[in-house]
Amino acid sequence: MTLGVNIDHVTTLREARKTLYPDPAVAALLVEYAGADSIVAHLREDRRHIKDKDVVLIKESIKIPFNLEMSVNKNIVAFARALKPEKATLVPERRKELTTEGGLNLKDDFKRIEKTVGTLKQVGIEVSLFIDPFKQDIDRAVTMGASVIEFNTGRYSEAKRASQQKKEAYRIREAVTYAGGKGLFVAAGHGLDYENVKEIAKIKKIKELNIGHSIISRAVFVGLVTAVEEMIDLIKQ
Ligand code: PXP
Repeated sequence: MTLGVNIDHVTTLREARKTLYPDPAVAALLVEYAGADSIVAHLREDRRHIKDKDVVLIKESIKIPFNLEMSVNKNIVAFARALKPEKATLVPERRKELTTEGGLNLKDDFKRIEKTVGTLKQVGIEVSLFIDPFKQDIDRAVTMGASVIEFNTGRYSEAKRASQQKKEAYRIREAVTYAGGKGLFVAAGHGLDYENVKEIAKIKKIKELNIGHSIISRAVFVGLVTAVEEMIDLIKQ
């Protein structure tokens, strides 16, 4: 199981004051040094944190794979095709949301997403679809030609009661088994932290976890390298 670290919130801090620091490319290098397996950043349509030039600099600086989270917006797709990150994760995007609120709506948006998967794959970008852990969506992802999916762990992470969290973990476990049977590479992420990651890390067929907010938050106290190392240790345990 590998770890992708989302560094968006390094730039949330920068944008709070419109300064030139902290630089997400420097953060990406520290994350790489700490042993993470990939760097993740979300270029949002409103550019609220990560900007185009950040993405270019990150891509030029790191040696580990870059996973660009993005919507199916046509300008962003054109940008991604020119940048050629190793991986692009398609996510739904609403302007007013605090963070990504759920998986893609593969049912209603099937045509647009399918077209984007093809357009990105054409230039050699591996495409991952961020979806909720439901069988119908796994089937739709396969039909669209995706070889990678990322299960949204948001409902698991936000569960208030232990029983509810257990139910959500079970749902993810079942979906992972189903997706594995279809030959998909399975990733997971959203809302995972130093406590709740343990249950998800037990699901061996998940090949990759993508974690951002909790690691960047912990970095404020212990530094980014230690925060990443601690998360890697927890996943390994
Ligand atoms: N995976 C995807 C597809 C996401 O959209 C996000 C949030 O940008 C994450 C993982 C990381 O979520 P968090 O910041 O809550 O760890």
